[in-house]
Amino acid sequence: MDKKIKKAVIPAAGFGTRFLPITKAISKEMLPIVDIPTIQIIVEEAIEAGISEILIIVNEDKKDIINYFSCNKKFEKFLLDKGKDNLLVKLRESEKMCNITFTYQNEQKGLGHAILMAKDFVDGEDFAVLLGDDIVVNKDNGATKQLIDLYNKYNCTILGVQTVEAADVNKYGIISYSNFQGREYKVIGMVEKPNFEAAPSNVAILGRYILTNSIFAYLEKQKPGFGGEIQLTDSIFSLLEKESIYAYDFEGKRYDVGDRFGYFKAIIDFALTREDIGKEAKNYLRKINEEE
Ligand code: UTP
Repeated sequence: MDKKIKKAVIPAAGFGTRFLPITKAISKEMLPIVDIPTIQIIVEEAIEAGISEILIIVNEDKKDIINYFSCNKKFEKFLLDKGKDNLLVKLRESEKMCNITFTYQNEQKGLGHAILMAKDFVDGEDFAVLLGDDIVVNKDNGATKQLIDLYNKYNCTILGVQTVEAADVNKYGIISYSNFQGREYKVIGMVEKPNFEAAPSNVAILGRYILTNSIFAYLEKQKPGFGGEIQLTDSIFSLLEKESIYAYDFEGKRYDVGDRFGYFKAIIDFALTREDIGKEAKNYLRKINEEE
């Protein structure tokens, strides 16, 4: 079988309760980083890693994501009639990205359950997972590309990790490991959102995975875990009985856009690096700082 990673799954079916009230009407994955939706930045990372087919998992109330990646004929005609060709290019940017399809998770039973919805799309292959509300910035070597490089070395499940503050271990899946070399961890266990006292380390799984197809056998029989949800971490842990798993401390700055302060930091950092408004943004922040 061809073991190249060509497919990616982006789960984006969660309710986004941390971001109410906006998530009542707008998907958190559509929240703009200045003017680019979070999910577009994530799709671009997948494409840069060589992914050619993407499945986005949504729910019935998140049609804004589907609309964003579809053609908008009325808007196109309006811009064409006005001779606004430069804006037309922007409008079409999201449509030509790659082969993007959608499927529904009808009940929000957790991340593991969302991934299970991708079984037919994945169709026996190993695949990448990029969480729809996690942005990683690395201009030269995206996080997914880094994980695929390690997958190509070991041909097994690879978890994207970074160390987090002790106070934050209860927000993530945390790994235990037998060996750490370079940026690679040999994984021997993991636990979802442990208390600080019970955490085996402060090495957290942060929104990027390469999963072997065997994961589906475990997800199919996975019982609800932390928070009553079907946890992906629990099934990956079970997979350890059959396959090796490595984790990779990916290089790049990561933003949890599903968290208010994480989102705020992403906007500030992105604005500062933009060609169009970067200088103004910097001056503005300096001015606020001086006024304090
Ligand atoms: P989160 O853990 O951030 O959950 O999911 P959430 O429900 O969206 O947000 P909060 O915690 O209530 O604010 C991480 C990613 O997994 C997706 C989410 O859309 C998000 O991109 N997800 C989560 C699903 O697709 N389905 C689920 O049942 C849960």
